[in-house]
Amino acid sequence: MVEANAADLELLVLAREAATRAHAPYSRFRVGAVAVADGQPFLGCNVENASFGLTACAERVAMWSAVAGGRRQISRLAVACVDAPPHAPTTSRMPCGACRQVMAELFAPDAIILVDGVGQFTIADLLPGAFGR
Ligand code: THU
Repeated sequence: MVEANAADLELLVLAREAATRAHAPYSRFRVGAVAVADGQPFLGCNVENASFGLTACAERVAMWSAVAGGRRQISRLAVACVDAPPHAPTTSRMPCGACRQVMAELFAPDAIILVDGVGQFTIADLLPGAFGR
């Protein structure tokens, strides 16, 4: 695992804090995310619904918040799955496929995603050959 530098560690701490705002009464799996654009942090957490399919992941909430803040080029995204058991497979902390497609849309070309407890990735690592237009 590539060690995070001080600025990235701060982002991961912010993502863990964002997870405490999750609305996750059904899964009890809280996730927090921070999207950085123009040096500014935009927070997200997962927001579930009694109609399960309406659930929004933390990553997408953070990225959409950046768009709502007038930004289209996300340079960094930190994600923290604070309820993932410590010895669970690392896949339980990785972003889902839908969020990866949204990253492909909104990430700056050299953007990095930091996954708490796992490491750092580019969009090419996470979604090679992503659909785009
Ligand atoms: N979840 C996220 O917020 N991000 C992901 O990348 C994967 C899953 C949320 C959705 C749901 O609220 C809970 O985690 C359990 O799947």
